[in-house]
Amino acid sequence: MAFRIGIIGAGGIANAHAAAAKDSQGQVEIAGVADMNREAAEKFASANGATAFESAEALIKSAKDHGIGGIVVCTPPSARLPIVAAALKAKLPVMTEKPIAHTLADAKKLESLGKKNKKVVTAIGYCHRFTPAVLKMKELIAEGRIGRLERFENFFACDLPGHQSKWFSDPKKAGGGAFLDMGSHSMDLFHFVVGPSKVVGAVFDYKWKGRTETGATVLVKSTKKGGPNNPGNVAGVILSGWAETSRFTVSVLGDKGMLSYDYENPEVLIFKDLLGKQENHAIETCGVRFTRQLVAFAHAAQGTKQPGLATFADGLAAAAADAAARKAAK
Ligand SMILES: NC(=O)c1ccc[n+]([C@@H]2O[C@H](COP(=O)([O-])OP(=O)(O)OC[C@H]3O[C@@H](n4cnc5c(N)ncnc54)[C@H](O)[C@@H]3O)[C@@H](O)[C@H]2O)c1
Repeated sequence: MAFRIGIIGAGGIANAHAAAAKDSQGQVEIAGVADMNREAAEKFASANGATAFESAEALIKSAKDHGIGGIVVCTPPSARLPIVAAALKAKLPVMTEKPIAHTLADAKKLESLGKKNKKVVTAIGYCHRFTPAVLKMKELIAEGRIGRLERFENFFACDLPGHQSKWFSDPKKAGGGAFLDMGSHSMDLFHFVVGPSKVVGAVFDYKWKGRTETGATVLVKSTKKGGPNNPGNVAGVILSGWAETSRFTVSVLGDKGMLSYDYENPEVLIFKDLLGKQENHAIETCGVRFTRQLVAFAHAAQGTKQPGLATFADGLAAAAADAAARKAAK
């Protein structure tokens, strides 16, 4: 039987979760949706055969009656705290979209709520953890394919002119710009692939007057030894951008070569040795990441541990890196 979820916030990313549910071979289905914009909730509900609710509270209150076993929070980050608190009070598993919150203070509150409600599954939608190429990179680093791990490079950037007039770039509502939005994925990837980080320096760029940063160049380093071939002090070069040429790449470099993955060429993982000799390896597309993540959340909510899912503690780690980079950029 399919695991039934409720979606809170029927905007852009809710559609990625709807597509993931459709792609889950009957493992997950969307049973309910709530949005403060009634029209958005009804449109999403009718496209997905779900029930529309007028608010998150209304959906959470009647979740059991509708067989809803968990919720996915797809609101802007500033709206998350009361919704997650209500879900946890109702003992309803919850996965929220990234970033965990718009401020470090809210991120801390959410992490502590998660800790206090240990028996209820909580997760953050850091979907790149489910990109097959990223998982393969971790495996190949441990096997010694690139030797001693020295550097992690991650560029998530593209041109999003529409963000200039949306909540995304409103300093009060969003809390941060391109670095909080895209860079938080990058920071989580660094933590997932390399280990805990310390921000060393940051330069932010502001193309839109009175709005949040449109670009960020951030240097971090790892603070702990990782697994085999990861002795620590690994550099991370993170580039995030909302108003520049599109690049979605992850590379890891060691003293024997590098592995790189380009989301725009999604079925190839490249290895290059130190002389530049290239091997192309076929890999499953990054397009599976939302489905894999949603299915993992469904399994976790039903009692099977899913170590790949990002936790609220991981969400707080990315939020802390965001705050440190923001300070360094001043
Ligand atoms: N994982 C990813 O790759 C990825 C990609 C895009 C967006 N996101 C994240 O998803 C979140 C949402 O982004 P989006 O692009 O869908 O935004 P959006 O503005 O398109 O949608 C947000 C929706 O939430 C609704 N909403 C706001 N407050 C609410 C509340 N209190 N109760 C119910 N509904 C409420 C809005 O009416 C809107 O329909 C952001 O945190 C964003 O960073 C993640």
